[in-house]
Amino acid sequence: MSEMKPSSSFTLTDNRSGQTYDLPLLDGTVGPSVVDIRKFYADTGCFTYDPGFTSTASCESKITYIDGDVGILRYRGYEIADLAEHSDFMEVCYLLLYGELPNVAQKDKFVHDITYHTMVHEQMHKFIEGFRRDSHPMAVMVGVVGALSAFYHDSLDISNPHHRMVASFRMIAKMPTIAAWAYKYSIGQPFIYPRNDLSFAEDFLHMMYATPCEPYVPSPVLARAMDRILTLHADHEQNASTSTVRIAGSSGANPFACIAAGIACLWGPAHGGANEAVLDMLEQIGTKDKIPEFLKRAKDKDDPFRLMGFGHRVYKNYDPRAKVMQKTCHEVLDELGKRDEPLLELAMELERIALEDPYFVQKKLYPNVDFYSGIIFRAMGIPTSMFTVLFAVARTVGWVAQWNEMVEDPSQKIGRPRQLYVGDDARKYVPLKARA
Ligand code: SDX
Repeated sequence: MSEMKPSSSFTLTDNRSGQTYDLPLLDGTVGPSVVDIRKFYADTGCFTYDPGFTSTASCESKITYIDGDVGILRYRGYEIADLAEHSDFMEVCYLLLYGELPNVAQKDKFVHDITYHTMVHEQMHKFIEGFRRDSHPMAVMVGVVGALSAFYHDSLDISNPHHRMVASFRMIAKMPTIAAWAYKYSIGQPFIYPRNDLSFAEDFLHMMYATPCEPYVPSPVLARAMDRILTLHADHEQNASTSTVRIAGSSGANPFACIAAGIACLWGPAHGGANEAVLDMLEQIGTKDKIPEFLKRAKDKDDPFRLMGFGHRVYKNYDPRAKVMQKTCHEVLDELGKRDEPLLELAMELERIALEDPYFVQKKLYPNVDFYSGIIFRAMGIPTSMFTVLFAVARTVGWVAQWNEMVEDPSQKIGRPRQLYVGDDARKYVPLKARA
């Protein structure tokens, strides 16, 4: 990354000593400037304090820009709504990895290269078969993706750009295969191999739903919906799982292990696990007349219940992905003849009431990307336990793009935060006999 020139500075005074410090102010292309505190501890002897990193920029990046107040999401400067409408997931993968939309020849070669990496080592069957059939598929994903580093020794030199790109292609290409196989294993059906004549989304549906007994032709509407959902979930700035991948990668760990760490983080219900939690919540609410009771619980600080699919660390406006997801939801339900899906009716009523509720208005809690995705997946016949797996399949390209950016950044160093220590000060060891 370029060594940025300060545009101005913040002056800070330590009121204990009267000492003042000038902290450089660095401007990005767009969005909040940053106060450069890289020398803060050396100069002041103090750490800054920001649990949850609500006011902390961890890196420079050129990949994704979010304006949470306005509800903007752009991949390499392109609005998510435009990409969802006019582009496709393979083109978005190229854009996230290389920074530009591909021309025809570049796109054809990229799609070919990804397509010809979709198979996984035959030994992977044995890995998956080592799990219980009722294992959560996210547990399988964490385990099997981490194990990929045991298979691909020829692309683990992260200082070698070719190795990094081969590992990146392998990750993007193999995630649908591993995900579909985790699903097939859980329902006792045979693994379906990828087909090179299908698009990325078509092939994923094919590996999920085909059986050896008859030909399977993916619905063009469902394949388009899946492709769009993959695009919407592809990257999202420095979210928890991406930050996990970056900090794992900052130690020089191999890319497959870093992605496995990202999958593990994504699994949490506050993050990528929310789509699964939304469905569980809607089923728990059951009927429209129960909505007020659950909204009351969501507002009760003593009740751990939260309105899943609502709220976001960055978006204090409508998540732009949620709008596209809502539109896609209606298209899929129309295609499947499930327009009157009770869960959709319930979700729309919940959204309507919540958006008028003073608590949610005051705290700027809007539906996020996870609010509608679960309803679409359910309508497509995808089991709830696979919802976050689909999120991981989509987000892999974002993780590898951010990982590459981190490795290529000459200023990058191992991520190692400090702390505010509030434990015991020095004390003498007391022998066991002398303890009460
Ligand atoms: C994703 O970071 C990303 O970009 C993530 C993601 C991506 O693409 O990578 O966008 C994907 O993870 C989307 C978010 C999915 N999670 C959920 O839908 C789970 C429900 N949402 C909440 O858990 C919460 O909104 C978070 C975790 C998403 C955000 O939490 P923050 O930013 O830490 O905010 P907070 O918890 O401090 O909430 C601020 C206030 C609190 O009240 P006060 O303490 O100020 O009184 O809002 C309340 C919270 O109690 N609040 C909610 C709420 N979310 C926040 N109250 C009820 N229901 C909710 N959903």
